[in-house]
Amino acid sequence: MPSQSQTKGVQWSSRWIFILAAIGSAIGLGNIWKFPYITGENGGAAFVLVYLICISIVGIPIMIGELLVGRRGRHNPADSYQAVAIESKRSPHWRWAGFIAVASGFLILSFYSVIASWALEYTFLAARGTFTDQSAAEVGNIFSQLLSSPKTMIFWNTLMLGGTVLVIARGVKKGLEKAIQYLLPAMLILLLILVGYSIGEGAFSQGFEFLFSPDFSKLSAEGILVALGHAFFTLSLAMGCIMMYGAYLPKRVSIFRSACIIAIVDTAIALLAGLAIFPVVFANGLPVASGPGLLFQTLPIAFGQMPFGTFFATLFFAMVVFAAFTSTLSLLEPTVAWVVEHKAVSRVKAALISGIILWSLGLASILSFNHWSEITIFGKTFFDFFDYITANLTLPLGGLAVALFVGWFVQQRYLQEELGVGNGKCFHLWYCVLRYITPIAILLVFFSALGII
Ligand code: TRP
Repeated sequence: MPSQSQTKGVQWSSRWIFILAAIGSAIGLGNIWKFPYITGENGGAAFVLVYLICISIVGIPIMIGELLVGRRGRHNPADSYQAVAIESKRSPHWRWAGFIAVASGFLILSFYSVIASWALEYTFLAARGTFTDQSAAEVGNIFSQLLSSPKTMIFWNTLMLGGTVLVIARGVKKGLEKAIQYLLPAMLILLLILVGYSIGEGAFSQGFEFLFSPDFSKLSAEGILVALGHAFFTLSLAMGCIMMYGAYLPKRVSIFRSACIIAIVDTAIALLAGLAIFPVVFANGLPVASGPGLLFQTLPIAFGQMPFGTFFATLFFAMVVFAAFTSTLSLLEPTVAWVVEHKAVSRVKAALISGIILWSLGLASILSFNHWSEITIFGKTFFDFFDYITANLTLPLGGLAVALFVGWFVQQRYLQEELGVGNGKCFHLWYCVLRYITPIAILLVFFSALGII
């Protein structure tokens, strides 16, 4: 049991600030960095369609489950699981599912902030006109130089984590709400400006067609699994983030409606990011299937050759930083809430200690690109290892835990009470999908990632 109840009683000031915070958590590198490149690698529109289906049958049902457990439990994810389990006369050991989720979210944050710090460096590089008229090889060189310079990465990562710690230390109302109020609208405005730029200067119709006109021959089985994994990642599911935000949710807010709004906006932003990126890439005859390098190696070449490219490249990378920052906030909050509830320390201390540990873990990720590139665990560098176990192991298992817990272990009357939708069609559709379809879909990804099917 938690030693203090500091989480209890804290609530979002309004329904809208909660929705903004959850959208801020959901929108991040997943939307702007990962979604465009996995779409590029998996053939475009057909992949987008599968991804949309995954958001509907896995993403939204699990998000509803997480918000429900969070709000009913009103603690950090580990104790929320436990409280809800006890209420339904189930084993309190369910708290381990929450604990593992919090710990994996913490691990994700340690390398997520490193990628975000590349974007921070790129904002300044772009502003200095570094990419203007550079060849592909030269831009590639800029990226390899960054990866081989631990000092630069450590500097930006310190800033990124320092900012995150600062906001979280100030608490939900004075920190999180204030930061999100400014960052999210700023990010959205920048994105709209960039889409406008891409309509004006890029090969817009080609980009549009790539995203929206499906060619199913380009879709592979692996692509389907990538889409499913990404549905978790982009909606911030399975790592306690959304459950944590649910713990601060006022009673009267509709969980169904909120989950739908968050998922729809997150998806719309991913598509808009695609519309900002692909036309610019096509206009310069560059490859769309360039993988993780799409954002840091391909896009800067395109901007470097376009009118006002310096200005728009700077805006672009600033937008990526804002988007990532509202996600790092949500990745730190569950850990800090857990520490505050379990160890007799203040929020400030909890945030600071977490920051120091994250910084050290980040160091391992940073060094794995250079000095420690030879040190491997199961054949992977630290960065790859952290990424691999979270994406392929804890993310699907965490999602499965939510689906099974809510679908099979929590008493149905509590679910109905918390959702406030009675015994109608809407409830049964959700309940049925969460009990049967979601777990099966997750197991498919999981076993395929392990190479079993
Ligand atoms: N959803 C964010 C993105 O798309 C990242 C993120 C935040 C996340 N919290 C998470 C990913 C929890 C997995 C789990 O960039």
